[in-house]
Amino acid sequence: MNAGKTLEFPKGFLWGTATAAHQVEGGNRNNDWWEWEHRRGTIADGTTSESACDQYNRYNEDFDLVKGFGHNAHRLSLEWSRIEPKEGVFSSAELAHYRRVLEALHSRGIEPMLTLHHFTNPLWLAKMGGWENPRVVEYFTRYAKVVASELGSLVRFWVTINEPTVYTYMSYIQGVWPPGAKRIRSAAIVMTNLLRAHALAYHVIHEASPGPGCSVGIAKHIRILDPLRPGRVCDRAVARLSDFVFNRWFLDAIETGRLAWPIGMGQKVQLLSATQDFIGLNYYTREMTRFSLSKPQRLFIENLTRPGCATNDLRWEIYPEGFYRALMDLKKYARPIYVTENGCATPDDALRRSYLRDHLVQLHRAISAGADVRGYFHWSLIDNFEWAEGLGRKLGLVAVDYATQARAPRPSAWVYAKIAQGNKLDPAWFE
Ligand code: NOJ
Repeated sequence: MNAGKTLEFPKGFLWGTATAAHQVEGGNRNNDWWEWEHRRGTIADGTTSESACDQYNRYNEDFDLVKGFGHNAHRLSLEWSRIEPKEGVFSSAELAHYRRVLEALHSRGIEPMLTLHHFTNPLWLAKMGGWENPRVVEYFTRYAKVVASELGSLVRFWVTINEPTVYTYMSYIQGVWPPGAKRIRSAAIVMTNLLRAHALAYHVIHEASPGPGCSVGIAKHIRILDPLRPGRVCDRAVARLSDFVFNRWFLDAIETGRLAWPIGMGQKVQLLSATQDFIGLNYYTREMTRFSLSKPQRLFIENLTRPGCATNDLRWEIYPEGFYRALMDLKKYARPIYVTENGCATPDDALRRSYLRDHLVQLHRAISAGADVRGYFHWSLIDNFEWAEGLGRKLGLVAVDYATQARAPRPSAWVYAKIAQGNKLDPAWFE
């Protein structure tokens, strides 16, 4: 495991952190999440996003921190409901706001990576059926076009949609995110609409930002899915099926242009093939999979945390080796890879530090074995609103006191700063 050696990363490697608008900005009252979190029982710890980290107003302060840490990149998202508060009405004031935000990054020498859709939808869209309504494809493309023509000169790296499969699963199968549906049929429609929307957005972004540096992709959550009882053929079969649907289906589709079974029938979708210039990887954990007769509505698949393993605060297994496995597997797409998220929910910063070290060791191992990884964005810069888990989960390198909005960098922030500044990892920094 190279435990004692300094690990050098490739020249020009991007080091940064990632956030999403609704999780950090505060006051996003005009989207489906605001409406959802204000319903009783939807958020585990009973909190709501409210002012979140108030980053809408405090972005300069937060980017000063980023600069002080010596990061050279930062991933953030736009809040669609601010930019298009009513169907077809675009706010020039909010576009100007995001222009200032992006300029604030550039003026500090920080390269932005910009996400267009990170789980939230404008309320008007949600009321029209959200991602189940086929018109969403046209709406999303129009939004992407406006943004790309207004902000394109400030952005090279674009993520159209964050974690499309997780979004679909949580919102349309598990039903724990808005709109709270539990319908496999809807999930298939939503996945297909997300794909079509991504494909068209890919093209409009390229048309609006024709510079050679413009790079467009998605952020794909890959979760290692292993059979709970590897000796049983049924467990192996459901592990393979869920791995295909959850981890590969979307990525395959945007490469081949085809909707594979079981969501499609192999049909070709116009303008879909080769619509990613890079692969964005969000990696956190592994789950074990077993065949379960009691889960017909989930295709007999049951996912569980490996019994007895080390976990984070969300009961996600801490499994650094899986990071290596995921990266090596992505090599087959022959695209540059950016790690668009990786991090650990824990109030214990020593655990966050060891998680960071162990995952970066695996990242380095994958690069040495030929994975073309060009950047790493730690989730997250600051503690923030962790969706259905609420404000109480701690994923930040920087702690936030929500009552005063004071920021306090944790020791992990300083270790990560050394890594970013040196473009290397010295295990002694973690002692
Ligand atoms: C991935 C999501 O993109 C992000 O919004 C979330 O906070 C992290 N996972 C941690 O769960």
